[in-house]
Amino acid sequence: MFKVGIITASDKGSKGEREDKSGKLIKDIMSANGYDIAMWKILPDEREEISKELINMCDNLKLDLILTTGGTGFSPRDFTPEATLDVIDRQVPGISEAMRYYSLQITPKAMLSRGVSGIRGQTLIINLPGSPKAVKENLESILPALKHGLEILKGVAVECARK
Ligand code: MTE
Repeated sequence: MFKVGIITASDKGSKGEREDKSGKLIKDIMSANGYDIAMWKILPDEREEISKELINMCDNLKLDLILTTGGTGFSPRDFTPEATLDVIDRQVPGISEAMRYYSLQITPKAMLSRGVSGIRGQTLIINLPGSPKAVKENLESILPALKHGLEILKGVAVECARK
């Protein structure tokens, strides 16, 4: 079972002023798809705090997958993609491209998410937008390929099946 960490980036959520519906939805969807939710944190929209927690979840907790939600848009305090780029070794643009491609067929506002995806060590990090609706739609688009990617990253599957 792959171990998942969730980070919700939200100033209001971190102060207890807003319920973290998106974090809970990620937990529910991922659990229903056979993932083990090992950690769930709500952090303020602070670039350094987010990158420090990403490093902790990757290097100390050795999680397989980190899903962030929120902080991917244009507001002056949206820094989740930058915090992610600060800590990854390799970008995985296809995952974020797939999410935007799928989401654009639902809403043109999908182009407003600056979310990125990448790998640090043996952990895959994926930025999701902040609303529960966006979380559901974005996860829907990547779940069919996610386990295979993680299996290759962890060395469980050596290569893609060739036909
Ligand atoms: N993607 C999907 N699938 N569905 C959505 O409703 N909302 C968009 C976009 N991506 C949306 C979506 C909107 S309105 C914004 S502003 C951006 O995600 C960034 O969201 P964030 O700042 O909460 O991360």
